[in-house]
Amino acid sequence: MDIMPIKYENEKLLIIDQTLLPCEEKWLTLDTKGDVWEAIHWLRVRGAPAIGIAAAYGIYVSMRESKADDFAAFSEEFRENKEYLNSARPTAVNLLWALERMEKCLLAHKEGESVAEWKAALLAEARAVHKEDEDGCRMLGEYGLSLLRPGMGILTHCNAGALATARYGTALAPLYIGQEKNYGFKVFADETRPLLQGARLTAWELFHAGIDVTLICDNMAATVMKKGWIDAVVVGCDRMAANGDGANKIGTSGLAILAKEYGIPFYMFVPTSTIDLATASGEDIPIEERKGEEIYRLWYEKDMAPAGIKTFNPAFDVTPAKYITAVVTEKGIAYPPYEESLRKIIVD
Ligand code: MRU
Repeated sequence: MDIMPIKYENEKLLIIDQTLLPCEEKWLTLDTKGDVWEAIHWLRVRGAPAIGIAAAYGIYVSMRESKADDFAAFSEEFRENKEYLNSARPTAVNLLWALERMEKCLLAHKEGESVAEWKAALLAEARAVHKEDEDGCRMLGEYGLSLLRPGMGILTHCNAGALATARYGTALAPLYIGQEKNYGFKVFADETRPLLQGARLTAWELFHAGIDVTLICDNMAATVMKKGWIDAVVVGCDRMAANGDGANKIGTSGLAILAKEYGIPFYMFVPTSTIDLATASGEDIPIEERKGEEIYRLWYEKDMAPAGIKTFNPAFDVTPAKYITAVVTEKGIAYPPYEESLRKIIVD
């Protein structure tokens, strides 16, 4: 199965509604900036690169009916829409990255062009963001595969697969490419509480692709590691700071600490669009906090906690750089010290 969760076809922005998977495969049309904000905010489209692609098309969608007739008015409206879309979710830096790239594109077309040309330039740039992510994920997969051997047991967390990107995924890309080459990986997918991206999305993707995947609860990771079933951990990233600290789905940092204890390499797959050199360390990464109901109500017929219980529901945690064996990007593999290697990858 070849999954491409975002399309722009016949002047329509379409996404698979990931909140309905694996029970229902439904495509939604996002016609307005409000539709795009809502889809990102409620995780209908999710995963750092996919959020960036949706935002790039989203800002175009927000401007395609613009009535502005000069550049000052057009760019002012653009800035307002950019700020609005950027407020949909805080942690994945791809959201801001994509919106800033779109703004740079608009500013580059300022001189002597018409409103129609500004709109066309924005659509072309959104398509470029989309295509570059697809190509980049293929490269992440090739570089990632160079770290793995046939027959390995691989643990992954959350969903860093095709659904989270244009195609192939980040951390799951080497598994798809490995399958093309008969690597015979044995993949373990953490269910990833509380939103179950591992169970609903990763297990769904890999199972339908015919990859050997075993679903486990988050609290079983130490057991499968101790049994010697895991040779590598592969995860995605929502924002990597300049020092190599990486924010990813809640539970990732615990896995990294366990992996170190059991002597298992821990690989973070990070497109350069997810590296934020303006953020010095993980301390400065904004972490989304979500409603406690997701913990005790969302998946149950009745509340599974006493009424009035206090909750704490951070959606991401930060894995300190010292636990990350290597950072795989589309431009190559970075090793510690990350202050130097990440900067070199971005600047070169
Ligand atoms: O809250 P989500 O589902 O958007 O979180 C997604 C993750 O944490 C992914 O692991 C991350 O975006 C990397 S995706 C290629």
